[in-house]
Amino acid sequence: MSKNSSRDEAKAKKAAVVLLSVVMAGILMFSLNRLKTNDSESGLVPAENSDKYSDTEGEALPEHSGILFETEDNGADEKSDNTSKTESTASKKTSSSNSLDKTDTDKNSDYSLLPAMSDYAAPENIDPLIMLVNRYNPLPEDYTFDTVDLSNGKQVNELIYDDLQQMFDDARAAGFEPYVSEGLRTGEEQEKMMQEYIDAYIADGHTEEDASRLALDYVAQPGTSEHEAGLAVDINGDKEELYDWLAENAYKYGFILRYPAGKEYLTGISFEPWHYRYVGRDYALEIYNNGECLEEYVENVYSRR
Ligand code: DAL
Ligand code: ZN
Repeated sequence: MSKNSSRDEAKAKKAAVVLLSVVMAGILMFSLNRLKTNDSESGLVPAENSDKYSDTEGEALPEHSGILFETEDNGADEKSDNTSKTESTASKKTSSSNSLDKTDTDKNSDYSLLPAMSDYAAPENIDPLIMLVNRYNPLPEDYTFDTVDLSNGKQVNELIYDDLQQMFDDARAAGFEPYVSEGLRTGEEQEKMMQEYIDAYIADGHTEEDASRLALDYVAQPGTSEHEAGLAVDINGDKEELYDWLAENAYKYGFILRYPAGKEYLTGISFEPWHYRYVGRDYALEIYNNGECLEEYVENVYSRR
């Protein structure tokens, strides 16, 4: 092949790559077209201005709908100058209707380790910071906490607010535009979300039974969600790389990636790159260094004591 033709070929390849990149960027932009970002450099957006970051009623697409960023843009921001606090008591329902059992054949089917951890994870045996909330460990009915209002109307447990603010400030300094798409959820809201997922699966052609089972991969039964404790936030943003940044840095602010890929058999939940659980900086550092999920950490820490 002559030099010219290889040069032409190289040029053609380059043009194809550029074209592909443009098309992919277009698709990405389309997917993210409902994501709005805040333009605050100070890191403070007054709650009364949060309307401009609010979306219209978002359609209830499951978080796992194929794009990493949720389509439901709540315009969230971790900031608020409305620091009104309310005493909240997490609502709880029993999770007896769990439709998953060991006869399931999907990747999340083996939950055998989870019940074994319950003793270690019992609320009276555990530091509340690493309180284990999962399908076998419901949020204690008497768990109470103060909340802080965010500028977009979301709320979080007061415990997590300062570190969340710091993390968002630093994420912004690193070039990202994060926002809290989900914070505290009531039991009723958790129930509603569960139903939305089930409906979406049914609309996709699944039977009601399958839909209920599949929804559990992404939505905790009401009474068993960390969101009901205000200790978990779903964080989204303008770029997919935000998830990488969070995975590498969140522990510095006391947050852990709660549902890592490869740990589904322990957490009972599919990989959720947006869901971060606050455990405080010391625990987060240890958990990050150990490469453990919270179930493993709780078992390892408490079984050794
Ligand atoms: N998406 C997580 C599992 C929750 O519903 O709490
Ligand atoms: Zn979440």
